[in-house]
Amino acid sequence: MTSARRISILGSSGSIGQSTLDVIRHQAGLSVFALSAHSQLQQLVRDAQEFHPKVIVATCEQSAAGFDFGSLPGTEVLIGTQHLDTIATAADVDVVVAAIVGAAGLPSAMAAAKAGKTIALANKETLVVAGELITRIAKESGSTILPVDSEHNAVFQALQSGRRGEVQRLILTASGGPFRDCDLQKLQSVTVDQALDHPTWNMGPKITIDSATMMNKALEVIEARWLFDVPSDQIDVVVHPQSIVHSMVEFVDGSTIAQLSPPDMRLPIQHALTWPDRVAGMTPKLDLSQNMSLDFYPPDLEKFPALGLGFEVARRGGTSGAVLNAANESAVKAFLNRDLSFTDIAASCREILEQHEFISHPTYGQLMAADAWAREEINRWTTV
Ligand SMILES: NC(=O)c1ccc[n+]([C@@H]2O[C@H](COP(=O)([O-])OP(=O)(O)OC[C@H]3O[C@@H](n4cnc5c(N)ncnc54)[C@H](OP(=O)(O)O)[C@@H]3O)[C@@H](O)[C@H]2O)c1
Repeated sequence: MTSARRISILGSSGSIGQSTLDVIRHQAGLSVFALSAHSQLQQLVRDAQEFHPKVIVATCEQSAAGFDFGSLPGTEVLIGTQHLDTIATAADVDVVVAAIVGAAGLPSAMAAAKAGKTIALANKETLVVAGELITRIAKESGSTILPVDSEHNAVFQALQSGRRGEVQRLILTASGGPFRDCDLQKLQSVTVDQALDHPTWNMGPKITIDSATMMNKALEVIEARWLFDVPSDQIDVVVHPQSIVHSMVEFVDGSTIAQLSPPDMRLPIQHALTWPDRVAGMTPKLDLSQNMSLDFYPPDLEKFPALGLGFEVARRGGTSGAVLNAANESAVKAFLNRDLSFTDIAASCREILEQHEFISHPTYGQLMAADAWAREEINRWTTV
């Protein structure tokens, strides 16, 4: 059992949010301080009835208008995005789980960092958009950012095998998504249903499409660059279809340290919630009595040009992360609405990145302006 911790989950109704609640359900010592949902308010109420948080936040005012929250004794109901900051910074909160999808998760993660909170970070977009800024703020405030993304959680664990100066490179593994064996020609006509059918992970729709284009791995390269303060030329990506080895760290002596487990997000979530303890959990263990093979091969950058953009943005920094992230979020939305083709997701992101006015050390305001500009630009690519 771990020491008592009260947890705010930003984005509790999503895939990571629900997995977090499952970890809390099975771990004595962990309790819920606050939950937030955007549109899935029935789920929010069900979770409030089970976990008895002090506060719940319904961020989408439109969805909340006229919604009956019923009787939730001991739980305060707040409506509106501005209240995310309240539950991210409350004095009674020990760990903030940042599990909102997209750049919408940035302001509350930033508020938690400024307040010096321990952040279990699933929302990789926070580091993609504002990695330099938020890591600096976290350093100043004493906030600890613990990675929930399985690859970064694996790197975080592997890094404990040596000193920082002894690290040669980080090796992020990628499942390769549903189209890893598909030829370039066929990618032109990929449908939404095909792209949503991920072979190893069950996730929210945005990250599932990002996995299919390998933009997810691009975002993870940028995330790793800021989270571990490692230059982009010391980060590699390798395709590993089984999703058992979650990532590796190569040290200068030639030792490569890996973290292995069956693909289940509840393990990295539990690791972040109970860190620095390791406690028994309910996730399945590796069964090495069964025949198992682990394959690794280099990614095909011609077939998945999004990945190359990730390395480029990790190298450049500045406003390029905000622009790539916003262009991609809008492009994925357009693809899900059937207004953009699958291959135009990466193509539009590349063009928007090339056209943007780069600022090397942007303020928060400049990052937000770059984000808004890139979202507008995607309209030129859509069919309606
Ligand atoms: N799923 C995974 O296995 C996984 C693995 C690694 C990293 N991640 C990262 O974790 C984050 C969450 O992913 P997910 O798969 O859990 O996504 P998801 O299932 O789509 O859930 C997203 C959550 O964010 C909320 N939300 C959406 N738009 C919002 C807005 N404008 N303001 C406030 N809240 C909003 C949603 O609320 P409603 O649903 O109520 O509308 C939901 O609670 C992403 O950054 C993703 O890259 C996910």
